[in-house]
Amino acid sequence: MGSQENIYYCNPVFRPPSEHNSLLIQLTEGCTFKCDFCVSNLRKNFKIRSVDEVKRDLDIGARSKYSSSVHKLFFLDGNAMVTPVVKLLELTNYAMKIFPNLERVGVYAHAKDILKKSDENLKALSDAGLKIAYIGFESGSDELLEMVHKNATKMDFINASKKLMKANITLSATFINGLGGAYNESVSKTHALESADLVNKICPNDERIWYIAFLTLMAPPGTVIQEKILRNEFKEMKSYEILSELKLFIETINFTNKSANCIFRSNHASNYLPIKGVLERDKSKILNLIEYGLNNINTLKPEHYRAL
Ligand SMILES: C[S@@+](CC[C@H](N)C(=O)[O-])C[C@H]1O[C@@H](n2cnc3c(N)ncnc32)[C@H](O)[C@@H]1O
Ligand code: SF4
Repeated sequence: MGSQENIYYCNPVFRPPSEHNSLLIQLTEGCTFKCDFCVSNLRKNFKIRSVDEVKRDLDIGARSKYSSSVHKLFFLDGNAMVTPVVKLLELTNYAMKIFPNLERVGVYAHAKDILKKSDENLKALSDAGLKIAYIGFESGSDELLEMVHKNATKMDFINASKKLMKANITLSATFINGLGGAYNESVSKTHALESADLVNKICPNDERIWYIAFLTLMAPPGTVIQEKILRNEFKEMKSYEILSELKLFIETINFTNKSANCIFRSNHASNYLPIKGVLERDKSKILNLIEYGLNNINTLKPEHYRAL
């Protein structure tokens, strides 16, 4: 018994903030991509764990006295959606079967992992219980996406989002404020405008809930972005530049569907100013808050409190 009863984790693991109450299960390790800003694939060789290994961990969770309080489950790691559909389906079905109160399964997904799956396969995953996918858009600017080696374009994000929505899988997408760096006004402007245009284009015609979040660029040790900073090839934006970029993004949001339920968050540990609202219903409230931040820079989160 003893350590044999522990669920396996390949540390460090990352999960979306909204999955803080979820049971975390290691399905993949690392990530098949290598974006300049990300630590997800550092010190980990990419691996998809076997069905037996993952089922063993699910069984340990199901035998625990807390099993009935598992309502959400998140399959780690950086892009668990890359897992072949047969395997993902089997494990999602298995989890739904053995946890009596499990309501949904979630994964991180690179846009290409979604695009490679057929509409029928995505629908099957959704029907089985995979109900939310977290995609990193980072930007709507193809120039910036290429610069940070995202390996995806604005069009990929539009198509992947539409596929998810068609399959009734909730979309939760993140952007990175300050991704183009300081002294780069035109890059920052394009980042804000193209990101807003991307969000405008994926807005569904119904009242379903979907999520858009802005994190603020951090430069963790070992990342290409940190190496560039050390070589003076990249300079991080100041807090007022970050807020100005976000302001332009919000100003440019213009949904054709005025009843859209796009939950907007910029309240991650990396952000200078916590913001929450519904786009575009709360546009003026959000803009007023950003304006307040711009006029009261001393009230923003101090640099040393920011984290990923
Ligand atoms: C662990 S990644 C998973 C997303 C998914 N693999 C994808 O790329 O589509 C989660 C998100 O955290 C954000 N993130 C990662 N590194 C960051 C950094 N250094 N600064 C700010 N945000 C970061 C990015 O928005 C990224 O998409
Ligand atoms: S941002 Fe996503 S795709 Fe890029 S390296 Fe990190 S986990 Fe992988």
